[in-house]
Amino acid sequence: MAGLARLIYVSTARKDLSFLHVEAILDVARSRNERADVTGMLLFDGTSFMQLLEGPESAVERIFSSIARDNRHTGVVRIHSETDVEREFADWSMGYSLIEDPRAPSGDKWFPLTNEILRKHLPETLSPLVRNLFTSFLSVPRAAE
Ligand SMILES: Cc1cc2nc3c(=O)[nH]c(=O)nc-3n(C[C@H](O)[C@H](O)[C@H](O)COP(=O)(O)O)c2cc1C
Repeated sequence: MAGLARLIYVSTARKDLSFLHVEAILDVARSRNERADVTGMLLFDGTSFMQLLEGPESAVERIFSSIARDNRHTGVVRIHSETDVEREFADWSMGYSLIEDPRAPSGDKWFPLTNEILRKHLPETLSPLVRNLFTSFLSVPRAAE
């Protein structure tokens, strides 16, 4: 379906936010997104978020406004916006992934994000620009615990 909007933002998680808090955020986000016909993917590395949202423009902007006001993160910066695009993340009301981190839980609700996994999960038709944003987030140097 054409005529949709897609946006990507990055933000900094509140210091005390754990992976379990993020699971709770996702539980709410998924049902809301499903009702609003919004899909996408959330990446979390224990410090920063990167999230892609796509769907009807008004729904994407409304959800992004709620997200930007959320005090569980700060420094929300929109780094990409497109309109009149096709949906790329049709299968995911909100996919979730984390950068490999020793503090992260393991299990089937989360998958560790490596370049190889990213290649496998990102839609093949995704534009090089959006693909590069994901790859850049993944390659930010992260301190080992
Ligand atoms: C990192 C992060 C990602 C979020 N992603 C979504 C999302 O995809 N969809 C959604 O409805 N809410 C999401 N939320 C929750 C919203 O910020 C907000 O709490 C929720 O939409 C309720 O908004 P309201 O208080 O304005 O009604 C997210 C929150 C954070 C911190």
